[in-house]
Amino acid sequence: PLVTTREIIDSARRDGAGVGAFNVITLEHAEAIVMAAESAGRPVILQISENAVKFHFGLLRPITMGVTEIATRARVPVSLHLDHVEDQELLHQAADAGFSSVMYDASKKAYADNVADTRDAARWARDHGLWLEAELGEIGGKNGAHAPGARTDPDEAAAYVAETGVDSLAVAIGSSHAMAVQTADLDLDLLVRLRDRVPVPLVLHGSSGVPHDQLRSAVHHGMVKINIGTALNVAYTGTVREILSQPDAPIDPRKYLGPARDAMAETITHLLGVLDPRQ
Ligand code: G3H
Ligand code: ZN
Repeated sequence: PLVTTREIIDSARRDGAGVGAFNVITLEHAEAIVMAAESAGRPVILQISENAVKFHFGLLRPITMGVTEIATRARVPVSLHLDHVEDQELLHQAADAGFSSVMYDASKKAYADNVADTRDAARWARDHGLWLEAELGEIGGKNGAHAPGARTDPDEAAAYVAETGVDSLAVAIGSSHAMAVQTADLDLDLLVRLRDRVPVPLVLHGSSGVPHDQLRSAVHHGMVKINIGTALNVAYTGTVREILSQPDAPIDPRKYLGPARDAMAETITHLLGVLDPRQ
């Protein structure tokens, strides 16, 4: 069923588990994520990014309506999250489009502007019953700005959360967006210091590039929401490429999108196992 992100995060926090938050670009992504969540018996967050909305001609509703239907029919708890929102207008559309949480991304702004804008976004979110995630400390790789050296300072993070009133915080501890191979190196000591200073759940972005043993350790040390996008597309595109490179490759897209969806589901099932402390 469709539940709120707050419910999923609160129960994961109680259990010391990590929650997989997977990026949806097409309906097949959402189908694969739910297939995998059902087979793993784990709750999951489906997230649609501002960039994905831009891809769908800037329209939030068509993809969201499909994804909401898929989430509602799932046999495990599923929530909908609007990811990496910079546009205020899109932020304000989230409330009546079926989302229960939003990441408001002012991370590219100067600290004072980030605080002021995020505080406004958090107040708006609270008034509309939405759970708000924000980010402090640039996470590299987004829009070509590759900054794997970016780190979030624990004291600054604590002050930021107090000043803005956000419900969760994305921090920079060594991961980087859009990595197709697992060569990132997380600073787990920094994670522990952040966890001890920051009262709200922590979020890891760019998790596709993190070795799986480090993902597991990150959850063990208090990371709660684990954002994963690129790993799905590695499976998707690899499968499509393989099928279409055959002689007599099929014309019907279902013949390559079906296997691509299965390949994504397999990757996700594996990742959900990595995030599950009981395994
Ligand atoms: O917000 C989305 C995530 O940070 C995804 O990052 O595509 O590098 O896994 P990734
Ligand atoms: Zn991200």
